[in-house]
This record gives sequence, structure tokens and C-alpha cells, in this order.
Amino acid sequence: MTDYRILCAQLSALTEAVPYETANLANASALLWQHLQDINWAGFYKMVDGQLVLGPFQGKPACTLIPVGKGVCGTAVAEGKTQLVPDVHKFPGHIACDGASNSEIVVPVWVMGEIWGVLDIDSPVFNRFSETDREGLEAFVRILEQIL
Ligand code: SME
Repeated sequence: MTDYRILCAQLSALTEAVPYETANLANASALLWQHLQDINWAGFYKMVDGQLVLGPFQGKPACTLIPVGKGVCGTAVAEGKTQLVPDVHKFPGHIACDGASNSEIVVPVWVMGEIWGVLDIDSPVFNRFSETDREGLEAFVRILEQIL
């Protein structure tokens, strides 16, 4: 089980006083990669010119562009809320970047009242993400929103 209080404290310590988006997102994805068990991808997509563009991440190379409304990430943007998907094979339009992925969580990132992008985490384990993970990862994203 991930201790999200420690994870959030580490994120705050790593990012405070660092005014560089790429550096902060790179360290955020590395922190998630280090502290979450049973994951095969963790990273960010940023809204650019009306679509999601791949940002800093850990894991295998992934799809570069995702339209709003497509896949789990695009659905998170379209609905403006976290998508907790216990079985990605049952999610209509799921985009399989890594065939090993079986469950996924996508948390929208908000800046100035608009969706900046998303945090996306994949797992090879079905039903990997719990409500505790949702709360912890939403708290993690709230910290990032302060420095984006
Ligand atoms: N599965 C995502 C695409 C991104 S990868 O998982 C890194 C989706 O359906 O939006």
C-alpha cells in the first residue's frame, strides 16, 4: 500500500521553489514509479491546441496524441473527472499503448479553472486502483496544480 501522505510530502519538497514545468513533472512521474507497486506506466498528457500531448512519464513509449473524448485520458478531460477503470478491456475506446495494461486511473489536472491535462497510471493487474488510490492521487495532483 502506498503511503500517500509521504508521497505528497516528497512531491512538495521536490517541487517547491522549482519554476520549471518539465522538471517538476519528470520528478513527479519518477516518484509515482518508485512508490506505487504493480504499475507499468505513470505520466502526464498536457492539453495543447485542443488535444492531449504526451508529457514526462515512466514506462514504455506511449501514444503521442489523444483527442478529447477518446480513450480513458480523453474521457477524463471530456467529463472533467477522474476515471478509475478496473478492466481496461471493458472500457469503450480504451487506447492500448502497452498491451500489458489491464487497469488504469486517470486524474484531470486543473489550472486556473481549466483542464491543463491529465495524470495517467496503468497497471498490469486488474482492479489495481482503489478509492484510497483515487483520493491519494487526487491530492498528489492538487499539489502539482500549485506549481503549474
Ligand atoms: N490508455 C490510455 C492511453 C494512454 S496510455 O495508457 C499511456 C487511454 O485509453 O487514454
